[in-house]
Amino acid sequence: MGVMSTIGTVKVRRINVPPTWRSIPKRWGHSLHPMCSYLAMFPPGLPRYFIEQFTRKGDVILDPFSGRGTCPLEACVSGRIGLGVDLNPLAYLLTHAKLDPPSHDDVLARIEVLRNLYEPPDITGVPDEIRMLYDDSITLPQLVFIRTMFANWKDGIDKVDRFLLAALMGIMHGNHRKSGDTSYLSISMPNTFSMAPGYVRKYIDQHSLVKPQVDVFDKLVYKVNRLFKNQLPIRSGNAFLADARTLSSLPDSHIQSGQVKMVFTSPPYLKVVNYGTFNWIRLWMLGEDIKTIDKGLRLDDEHTLARYTNFLGNIVDECAKVLRDDGLACFVIGDVEEPGRPPLNLAEYVWTQIKDTTSMNLYGIVEDRLPVSDKVTRIWGKTQGNATKIDRILILYKQKKPRFRYGKGSDEVLSKFTT
Ligand SMILES: C[S@@+](CC[C@H](N)C(=O)[O-])C[C@H]1O[C@@H](n2cnc3c(N)ncnc32)[C@H](O)[C@@H]1O
Repeated sequence: MGVMSTIGTVKVRRINVPPTWRSIPKRWGHSLHPMCSYLAMFPPGLPRYFIEQFTRKGDVILDPFSGRGTCPLEACVSGRIGLGVDLNPLAYLLTHAKLDPPSHDDVLARIEVLRNLYEPPDITGVPDEIRMLYDDSITLPQLVFIRTMFANWKDGIDKVDRFLLAALMGIMHGNHRKSGDTSYLSISMPNTFSMAPGYVRKYIDQHSLVKPQVDVFDKLVYKVNRLFKNQLPIRSGNAFLADARTLSSLPDSHIQSGQVKMVFTSPPYLKVVNYGTFNWIRLWMLGEDIKTIDKGLRLDDEHTLARYTNFLGNIVDECAKVLRDDGLACFVIGDVEEPGRPPLNLAEYVWTQIKDTTSMNLYGIVEDRLPVSDKVTRIWGKTQGNATKIDRILILYKQKKPRFRYGKGSDEVLSKFTT
């Protein structure tokens, strides 16, 4: 089972798992997944494979860096209880909306209530960089109305409004179709992340882009109908706006120590990703301060290897505290590639650095070779430097060695991918 390799004096087991999740069609997964694009999101089949292999219905699965909620949603879809933690308010909103969704009818009814309540607000205070994106006769006033209605969303919002706000995040900006038609509210621009305001302004001028005059409520109805294409997940879960470095200090009502069967997560990259700056349009809608978010999510100015290793060591220890004795933790960690240097196998490196101090044990490391074109980070082209071509899944266990329930690449595990 697997091949032993040696790094310095440390033995590491490399597990060969056929990349079962890669044989799944790209758009596979529950209709709630595509609620909103998110940087560095992983495909739903990846966590689902490990959920099927290592956990049972009713188990608690946690992603402490949940992003748009891919892993905990797959947990709920497959009858487990999904929990998500993230420090980025946008990620928290998306994860929470997916893990505790309202009924389709309630959301549609709420949109009609808002439509009837709508009165055009004063939009003079809206920043120029937002005004350049949206038509100011209908679209922008409607957005400002909704923004004001949901201004206190973080202090308590019911699940219907939370879902609506999250669905709105997904249509804030995106490319128009060739026909000129669009599902989005903005001028034609990428959907995954918000390009810098200066760049967008220049692009608008150079290409004479026109702001579409669209009705926000109509576009929301269309978006919501697509999100409810599949039946709601059989279980619900929960999400928390919190720092993964203090996971074990969350109240017991959030995450109890010794409760979690599996952590499955993809921690922040070694390279700094400014989740705030890259989402400035959506975060304006949420009333969030971009600089505060980027500062809060930053491990340090450069993510030096030593500090990154320290950070992950801390996360591993925090995970150990919330795991059951028979629990395990899987970390998806990309190799680091820098021009002129040999690629760094970061997962193995991290393990060699933390193995003497952590209470967790190494089960092995699975290699996941990514077709380069799949990576969202490719959008950054050459400037992003550290794009990963190989992801590795570092599997650690607390006390009891985990076992693959099905053959590692068998048809039986594939048959579990049912949605
Ligand atoms: C690689 S992304 C995860 C994407 C996720 N797997 C998905 O499919 O959407 C890493 C996430 O870690 C979050 N993050 C970074 N530092 C954090 C911290 N200290 N505590 C909690 N979340 C953090 C970021 O906001 C980001 O959402």
